[in-house]
Amino acid sequence: MQHETVIVIDFGGQYNQLIARRVRECGVYCEICSYHTGLDEIRAKQPKGIILTGGPNSVYDPASAGYTPELFSAGIPVLGICYGSQLMMHLLGGRVERAPEREYGKTEVAVDTGSMLFEGVSPKTVCWMSHNDYIAEPAPGFVVSACTASCPVAAAEAPERGLYAVQFHPEVLHTREGTKMLANFVYRVCDCKGDWKMDSFVASTIAALRQKIGGGRVLCALSGGVDSSVAAVLLAKAVGRQLTCVFVDHGLLRKNEGDEVEAVFGPAGPYDLNFIRVDAQQRFYEKLAGVEEPEHKRRIIGEEFIRVFEEQAQKIGRVDYLVQGTIYPDVVESGLGGESAVIKSHHNVGGLPDCVDFKEIVEPLRSLFKDEVRAAGRELGLPEQLVSRQPFPGPGLAIRIIGAVTPEKVKMVQEADAIFREEMARAGLDGDASQYFAALTNMRSVGVMGDERTYDYAVVLRAVATTDFMTAEAAPLGWELLSTVASRIVNEVPQVNRVLYDCTGKPPATIELE
Ligand code: XMP
Repeated sequence: MQHETVIVIDFGGQYNQLIARRVRECGVYCEICSYHTGLDEIRAKQPKGIILTGGPNSVYDPASAGYTPELFSAGIPVLGICYGSQLMMHLLGGRVERAPEREYGKTEVAVDTGSMLFEGVSPKTVCWMSHNDYIAEPAPGFVVSACTASCPVAAAEAPERGLYAVQFHPEVLHTREGTKMLANFVYRVCDCKGDWKMDSFVASTIAALRQKIGGGRVLCALSGGVDSSVAAVLLAKAVGRQLTCVFVDHGLLRKNEGDEVEAVFGPAGPYDLNFIRVDAQQRFYEKLAGVEEPEHKRRIIGEEFIRVFEEQAQKIGRVDYLVQGTIYPDVVESGLGGESAVIKSHHNVGGLPDCVDFKEIVEPLRSLFKDEVRAAGRELGLPEQLVSRQPFPGPGLAIRIIGAVTPEKVKMVQEADAIFREEMARAGLDGDASQYFAALTNMRSVGVMGDERTYDYAVVLRAVATTDFMTAEAAPLGWELLSTVASRIVNEVPQVNRVLYDCTGKPPATIELE
């Protein structure tokens, strides 16, 4: 199905994905293209509108990211945001200069509510500003539609040409009425109807998968995480028993997790597919015995995972399609490229294609943001505990046990973690922290229990608030909760006599302990 599409042209700003998400939240499909994408390629996507993002440069710098001015006469409405607004003015004959003072933060903006973009918006509204340059003079034919105390052109427009420019960032939540402005752009200016809905995405994806796969055989490596689970259910609904899901229990999952996955995808669950659970705990424990170095542990787990999968794939024989749970941020981030240093090698199932004999990869979630994957999961009737699951690393508890992994330590961390999660849910805080868990330090210390000396392990509790997982703050959990969790853990988990709370953010720490 061809959806109405709005294209975001990315000039290297920080909020490219955020803009696309906000547009989709308005019910309109939105895709991100680099500014290197030619106008013909963009036109071929038949966009209803185009949004130009912010960016780090100055338009008058010859090395800055540019675009052909023909964009503005292509008959497609354009909204320029921050750098995008300056670029529009610059390319159309306006004047952009360095502002006497940088304008940064929440700023009161006076808007002309007669503008289509600001219809229904308060005449004085708070917006998020972050700019060094400013529009000193709008391009010919443009009228000013918003200003602030220090920014004479906070917005300008040429409505008969469908061109709108805003200096502030409507996509960030600090811009109180930003979503209203974006909705005005897509509905009023671009005349979208709003056909991006999860129920129709699910229905049309299932139909498309059915058509593509025909009578073919499909193989899916199911981890029990949100992405692979939603992908598996889409395929199960599309092709039923032509799908085989292989779930490897590496013995490093959270308490009861293997059984929970089996309850949903196994023969007793609601879906009609072939489910293979491989209980490979011992193999992983043996390979990990005595290994202390975090990256070494990751490598062993990644390699062993492939070996186990390979054995299963051999039994299954040739398949036509291999499912991957790639989601849109992976596509955007790999497409735009990054050169950041490897702090941790994040093992997912990236090595699989080599060991499986297949014709093609299917990626049914390729166009979805994470929150949309969850919405699709709900639409497909997946249990809430699976759909709203927090991220869990591929190497599992192995990187939440500092030093060598043993089955006993896995048990300790599973029990402590289950208690922590239970108490977070009881306190109604499970939705507040982005990720929280218990980990086992390699530290033993002296304690006293029932008049006896103990020499046991310390558990560390970690809870963080983050949106991107690249930076994070430690969550300020209340003392009552922490002391309840601590006393339950030392009472209920053998060989633990101390519980610590990790107060560090990322950076300088990371979210996981290894
Ligand atoms: P860090 O510890 O790097 O974690 O701050 C950031 C996010 O990534 C997850 N993480 C992993 N995910 N394989 C994964 O699939 C890994 O090896 C891995 N290490 C960290 C972590 O849980 C957090 O959400």
